[in-house]
Amino acid sequence: MLDAPTATFTPSTVTPPRRALSTAGAMAALVRNPLESWHEELFELPSRRLAFLGTDYLQIMDPALMQSVLLDDIDSFRKSPVQQRVVRPGVGDGLLVVEGETWRFQRRAAAPAFRHDAMASLVPAMAAAGEAAADRMLAGAASGQAVDVLPEMTRATFDVIAATLLGGDDPSFDQEAVADAVTGYIETIGAVHLLDLLGAPDWIPRPGARRGKRAIAALRGAADAALANRRARVEGGGDLGDDLLGRMLAARDPETGRGMSDVELRDNIVTFIGAGHETTALALTWSLYLLAGDEAAQERLAAEASAVAGDGPIAPEQVERLAFHEQVIKEAMRLYPPAVMVQRQAVKPVRVGWHDLEPGAEVMCLIYVMHRSRRLWEKPAAFDPDRFSPERAAGRHRFAHMPFGAGPRICIGMRFAYLEAAAILAAVMRKARVGLLPDYVARPRMRVTLRPEGGMPLVIQPR
Ligand code: HEM
Repeated sequence: MLDAPTATFTPSTVTPPRRALSTAGAMAALVRNPLESWHEELFELPSRRLAFLGTDYLQIMDPALMQSVLLDDIDSFRKSPVQQRVVRPGVGDGLLVVEGETWRFQRRAAAPAFRHDAMASLVPAMAAAGEAAADRMLAGAASGQAVDVLPEMTRATFDVIAATLLGGDDPSFDQEAVADAVTGYIETIGAVHLLDLLGAPDWIPRPGARRGKRAIAALRGAADAALANRRARVEGGGDLGDDLLGRMLAARDPETGRGMSDVELRDNIVTFIGAGHETTALALTWSLYLLAGDEAAQERLAAEASAVAGDGPIAPEQVERLAFHEQVIKEAMRLYPPAVMVQRQAVKPVRVGWHDLEPGAEVMCLIYVMHRSRRLWEKPAAFDPDRFSPERAAGRHRFAHMPFGAGPRICIGMRFAYLEAAAILAAVMRKARVGLLPDYVARPRMRVTLRPEGGMPLVIQPR
């Protein structure tokens, strides 16, 4: 039985502590789930400054302050070493991590592969992955059981990244092993350990470090094999390929003629696999949860998908017209941003709002908190996709909704992710209805990304 529809669904989340936690309490919360460390008052403030274990931290939850750090004063900051620690072991020379000239070169080199016109050819793979996911979920539900939609969405977005990065025809690419390695990486290296908070050097092993290293080795091995395979194909007279890897191999710096080194290529393959599929899977998983609580929104989606694409496969130019789908995905990423926060470190003296910072100060851009700020949103805890209708979005500060970051280092895969999520959501909504289990309570937990603790079991019924 599906739950009764509600006009405005207020989904569950972590209840913030009433007051700021003590140092010991904050440390325990950060290790368990950083969301539990952000207290009530933060949801009403633009910023908060605190000294924590000898470091000056500025937490910001205001669009104008976000703009100052991520755009206006970009040269005064670098990506925070604290946050980089989580990703550097896997993707040290990839776009997500590098800085300065190397970053500018890589961003220029990768940009054409993510341009609007280049995206169209990827849509059929996205739509096909959505169809397959819908069929799998309906088959799983046939036994009367609830279906955990997180692994289903992860499989769908993984299929998409494998197809669009490597063309989907690379026999050396062991999808299951790579998917397992990504999960292993997130569950081990992705966790904040007490040792990190205490500033312990990297050579002191963190719990799970061995499993994390194995996961990195597996990811790098898969990327190296994919690269070697493509090189062999080209040497055998084949073409570079029209997928993301082929386009990165072909890329040359217009000024110096330099191409990406093998290490840069390998680390970017791992970056696109890591940054590119789990995040989108989470955006979809949280969307399905919210829709399960709002039957009317599901009906609107199904009607829009049918009006735009009929019963056939969704075509590239049609995905762009799935406007309500995009609103739902935006609202899901407001409430449950897959990237909960981004962090920067001041490299020179700089003023952020009314705060003077010295080099070494850490600025935490708390996207999750800003997205639920009572200063910025009406009924911030309610699911209301019409917040993103053109009329209601007009006049809102453009940094108030920031699931993909902002400024020059905004996510390069943003358009890719919107197209992918809309294509997959449309495929699912045309075939299925989703509903909540009566006693299910969603518990978002931050582990690099914002994941539902214990998965996301939903009731699935054929439409
Ligand atoms: C819903 C899905 C996604 C979300 C929420 C997301 C979120 C983000 C965020 C917040 C950043 C900025 C990090 C910072 O400023 O420190 C970022 C950067 C990045 N993302 Fe995404 N992302 C998504 C999908 C993708 C996809 C599909 C790809 C590639 C196929 C991708 C590749 C990257 C890369 C390479 C960067 C680094 C860009 C740079 O520094 O120039 N992401 N992403």
